[in-house]
Amino acid sequence: MKNIAVILLIVLMSVSFAACGDSSQEKNDSSTLKEAGETKVSKQESEDSKTQKPVSATESTSVPDEAENPDGGGENENAGATNVLVAYFSATNTTKGVAEYMADGLRADLYEIVPQEPYTDDDLDYNDDNSRSTMEMNDPAVRPAISGSVDNMDQYDVVFIGFPIWWETAPRIIDTFIESYDFSGTTVITFCTSGSSGIGPASSNLKKLCKGNPTWKRGRRFDGDVSQSTVNKWVDGFRLK
Ligand SMILES: Cc1cc2nc3c(=O)[nH]c(=O)nc-3n(C[C@H](O)[C@H](O)[C@H](O)COP(=O)(O)O)c2cc1C
Repeated sequence: MKNIAVILLIVLMSVSFAACGDSSQEKNDSSTLKEAGETKVSKQESEDSKTQKPVSATESTSVPDEAENPDGGGENENAGATNVLVAYFSATNTTKGVAEYMADGLRADLYEIVPQEPYTDDDLDYNDDNSRSTMEMNDPAVRPAISGSVDNMDQYDVVFIGFPIWWETAPRIIDTFIESYDFSGTTVITFCTSGSSGIGPASSNLKKLCKGNPTWKRGRRFDGDVSQSTVNKWVDGFRLK
């Protein structure tokens, strides 16, 4: 009788230990999930709250384009299009870095829009009402000359056009570039870097100047310190390879 009671006790104890083991496993799993979730959220929050450089020449009311702009996300109408050009203008090499990441990721041709007359530091002084950039941006009709041109623009299915934001829009030299070609049958995708201003107004202005009625995508703005993987992820969304 005593033996039976001992056996019963042992069985009861093993059952309750097993139950404890399961619940602590559950607890571990759920805390791992929670941690992963929290890491993701706080990383996103830190991205969102990144302080933008206060270099805007005008008061910016724009929100970052990456939050509002779906371009680049899972589209596939360009599938099979392998001939891609990344054209860019960059006065202080920020946009250049992004353009290089893009061309590298896409194995695309890279073309720098080089001003016939290079911009000096004084030219770029947006605090000076009489600086070259301020005067150009105050006159929508100005078309700064470009040195050289793209050989056979017709060969490209997709043309990315990158630039810094100046006074909330694209530098006038981008107007010169856009008006120099016929983009019939092409997909044009704009991108920019800036202190904080979005790409929206620049893209709308450029679209109006573009000949050939191409498929137009506003694209997005990048921070100057964007990583290559962020840029690659964006261009991968167009499925051009
Ligand atoms: C003349 C001038 C005007 C600018 N205007 C703006 C602006 O309106 N909004 C903004 O966010 N950044 C503005 N910026 C900052 C540039 O957009 C930013 O520094 C950009 O990343 C520079 O790119 P880049 O090095 O390729 O030239 C301006 C810079 C210059 C030189």
